[in-house]
This record gives sequence, C-alpha cells and structure tokens, in this order.
Amino acid sequence: MATDDRFVEAADLESLRDEGRTLVSEGGRHIALFHHEDEVYAVDNRCPHMGFPLSDGTVDEGVLTCHWHHARFELSCGDTFDPWADDVQTFPVEVRDGMVYVDPDPEPDVPPETHWRNRLADGLQEDIPLVMAKAIIGLDAAGVDYSVPLGTVVDFGTTYRRAGWGSGLTIATAMANVLDDFDAADRRRALFTGARHVADDCAGEPPRFPQHPLSTTSVSKDRLKKWLRDAVEVRDSDAAERTLRAAVAHLDAADVAELLVAAATDSIFLDTGHTFDFLNKAFEVLDHVGASEREESDPDRMADVLASTVESLTDATRSEELSSWRQPIDLAALRFAFEDDLPDLRANGDADSWDRPEDFVETLLSDDPHDIDDAIRSAVRDGATPADLATPVTTAAMRRVVQFSTANEFSDWNTVHHTFTYANAVEEMARRTDADELYRAVYDGAMRVYLNRFLNMPSAPIPEPSETDRDPETIRAALLETFDVEGEVDRATKLAGEYLDAGGDPAALKESLGHALLREDAGFHTLQAVEAGFRQFDRSDSETRRRLAVLAPTRYMAAHFPTRRENEQTFTIAARLHRGERIHEN
Ligand code: FES
Repeated sequence: MATDDRFVEAADLESLRDEGRTLVSEGGRHIALFHHEDEVYAVDNRCPHMGFPLSDGTVDEGVLTCHWHHARFELSCGDTFDPWADDVQTFPVEVRDGMVYVDPDPEPDVPPETHWRNRLADGLQEDIPLVMAKAIIGLDAAGVDYSVPLGTVVDFGTTYRRAGWGSGLTIATAMANVLDDFDAADRRRALFTGARHVADDCAGEPPRFPQHPLSTTSVSKDRLKKWLRDAVEVRDSDAAERTLRAAVAHLDAADVAELLVAAATDSIFLDTGHTFDFLNKAFEVLDHVGASEREESDPDRMADVLASTVESLTDATRSEELSSWRQPIDLAALRFAFEDDLPDLRANGDADSWDRPEDFVETLLSDDPHDIDDAIRSAVRDGATPADLATPVTTAAMRRVVQFSTANEFSDWNTVHHTFTYANAVEEMARRTDADELYRAVYDGAMRVYLNRFLNMPSAPIPEPSETDRDPETIRAALLETFDVEGEVDRATKLAGEYLDAGGDPAALKESLGHALLREDAGFHTLQAVEAGFRQFDRSDSETRRRLAVLAPTRYMAAHFPTRRENEQTFTIAARLHRGERIHEN
C-alpha cells in the first residue's frame, strides 16, 4: 500500500528497529534503510565511490561510513565528508501505522547536467581522476555536448595555473580535435584524458591573476602589435597581457593571430616549438568552446584563453641562444638575414602563384642549410605563401619521424616529434592569418628539419606501397597487438602500411589507433603525435602524404607502448559504476 503515487511500502518499523538496518529493492534500485537515533533513513545502497554495499557500513552519531575506503556520509542528506567519494543519494521516508514507506524515485535536487558539471569541477580542483571520469561519463550519458565539459576544463586550466597554458590544455585541445575519429566510448576517454592532464598541470600551482586590458579605444593594430612585440622582447608578461587583452577587445581574431605570430617569431623557434604550438592550440580550443557556456563572441573567454599563453612567449628559450643554431653553421644568422630580405623577396613574389618544385621536400631534407635557405628564398620570390611553404615543411618533418632510427637514444624521439608538431601548428595557424611573420615560422621549421638530419642516420625504411591480398582486418588486429609488446616499432610501421595497401578503411584504422592510444597512459608527446598525424591525414591530398600521416603516429606509439594502463583502470571502474555493475565482490 502506498501513501501516494510515489511512496511504496518498504519495511516493518519494529523489525527495522530491532535489526538496525535492512536492504530493500524497488524499481531496480537497492535501498539501504537504517534505524538510527529513533529516526529512519534511506540511502542508495551503492557507495557512490566504488559501489560497496552501504548496508554493510557502520552508522555512528549520524555518520554512515563505508567499509571499503572509509568514505563518510551525513546520514540525513547523504552529503559526503570526503569529496573524492561523491554524495550518496537519499530517499524520502514516511512512517505510517508501523510501516516504513520510501519514495524510490524522488525528483533530483539538481539536474544531472548540473550535478556532473559540479563534480567535474570538484575532480579538477582535487585532481581526482575517478571523479573526473565519472563526471565526463555522466555528462555524456545525459546528452550534454562535449563542448560543455571541455569548457569547464579550459576555464579551470586557464585560471588555476600561474604559468598559464601548458601541456594539459594542449592535450585537452588535441583530444577535442580528434573526437570524431574515435568511437563513442573513446570519445569519453579522450575528454577524460584532457581533463586529468589539466588537473595534473594545475595541482599545487598558484592561480593566475589576470591583468586588465588597456582601457584605450583608440590604438591602431600596428601600435598594439609593436607594444606586444616590445613587451615579449623584454620578457614583460604584464605589459604583454594588458596589450593582448586590449587587442582581443578591439581587433578581429585574424588580426589577434597576426599579433601573436609576430611576437612568437621575433626570436627563433621558442621553447623547441612549444610556444607556437600552444598559441595555435589556444585558438583551436576557442573553436570548440566558444559557443558553449559563454557566448561565441564572449571576449572574456577569448581574452582569458589567449592571455594564458603570454608566459610561454615571455619566458621561452630562444633558439638563437642555443649553440646548435650557431655552430658549426650560424643558422640564426641565416634566418635573420632571410627576415631582413623578406620585404624584397615578397615584393617580387606578390603577383605570382608558386609552382612547387618536385624536389622541394627532398631539398628540405638535404644536408646543406644554404640549399634550404636558397629554396625558401626562391619560393617566396616566386609567390609562395606561408601556407604553400608550411605544407612541405610538415611533410619533411613527418619524414623525420617515420625514418627515425631506433639506434638513436630514446629521448631523441622527442626531437623529431617537436619539429613535426611545430610544423603542424604553423600549417594550422596559416589558416587563421596570412601574416608575413609566418614566413619566419616556416623557415624555423625547415631549419629544425635540417638540424634533425642525423636522427635519420641510418634512416628507417618507409614501407613502400605494394600489392597484398591479406585481409585488412587481420592486419589491423596484428597492428594492435604490436602495441602490447615493447620495441615493435618497425613491425607496427610495416603493418600500418600493409593495412592501407590491402584497401583497409582509414577511418577504421584511425579508430583503432585512437583506442590503442587512449587505453595507455600516453604522455604529452604521444597524444600530440597522434592528433597531428590525424590532422595531417585529413588535410592531405596525396596518398603519399596520407601514408606518412598514418605511419608517423603509428611509429611513435609503438616506440612508447605498452604502459601500465593505470588510467584505463580508473576509466573502466567509472564506466562499470555508471552501468550499475559491481566493482566490489563479497
Ligand atoms: S569508500 Fe565506499 S566504495 Fe570506496
């Protein structure tokens, strides 16, 4: 008998008083009833942390303690004393005529979207991966667009780290860029990966206190550009931020991109390419989150995101200060001479449309920087745009990864990787601005390709296209198995090429590579490598280049896998809890 539509008969009061607790099931829910201090309480029997039965817990002075990890809950409201565990759901109770009635399906206090967004914020603040994984799964299950949790992550990451934009936000953006390449479960893994890296970056760090924009409204773009460059030159992050925020308030996005590209290329190849990569990713993330919680044109979010890159500009190592750019050949001098000559080269080239020489990429991969300098100068003179030049530089950079010799020190994977992701960032930035300063970025990428030449000696062979009648699915399965074994770099590269030769669907291959990536504890560079490879695959119009774009990340992944897969363990627990499965077995 029910007292109204919602309450159902659950237990005899006298028996509950004698036993102290009982477990009832109603509508698929398991509810723990407690009789404590002359009151009746009802809570979800699954501990919100990892599902231990709370009916086996201890009640003392109004506090229910779970026996697995000892999370404590205030019995009347379900709020936890231990934020890593989440609050437990409680149920309204009525006592009528010696019987206990429970409403097993009460209206939630807050909508699921709000609950899970709050939990994501909690997880980020406390740096608790399980909480973040549960929140991202909960939001996705509630039908919330990926841009919402991503926006929460971005706002958190740009606020709570004084050093500003770092690897965590770069990873979060990279994963958002390739979400469509993953299956449904891996999309959740990808968002989780971004969130946990941002939380890691911010853990224990002082927050970032924003500068206000210069309040002037009458400054030209050229003046703002000069001020920003001057501030970066003398490493004055406050002045740079105030100027940049003023630029965001008054200029369009392409002009802001031009200012930042100029400031990022007055010196050479800042921070082994990370600075430019961060700038590009900051623009990219705005493409994802601009229209979510805050309005698309909200200058505050744009200003906050872009301002978070200022320290990466002002604090960066400048490659002209490195001996590798000075000895035995003064590459920095070559670059600055190119910069000086650029107006004249451009003056000649403006009217023409560049016909790329067939051997242009081979020239970029050659061992004489003067030949590379000549080729770039000639290209600019013949009308090549920065975008025209950025693509072959990225191709050459991908070749360095695909042909990286495993005889090198393992850490040198990073060296070829940095050049590739930098080149990819320059190519992407060329879609936002055609600023002349981008020529400098392209030039630096080309010289980094030159500097990496010894990492291709001996060069690993690129699997050439060949006919095969093997089943692509068998090859794909074999490729996935290579990631379970250390040192299968060449075999993985060969299998990826063979899969394409067999006519395998590239989308299925990307999905598999994505899964292989996200089940591992992949580091910053591996996550970047896959995103850059996928991006290049989508951008490429030649089979040769698309092949390189698959082989490069495959090779990088094979070199860095397997790992302990700790984060996959966390994600799997969160997914099982979401499905209502038991984690704890009595
Ligand atoms: S504290 Fe309850 S399952 Fe961990």
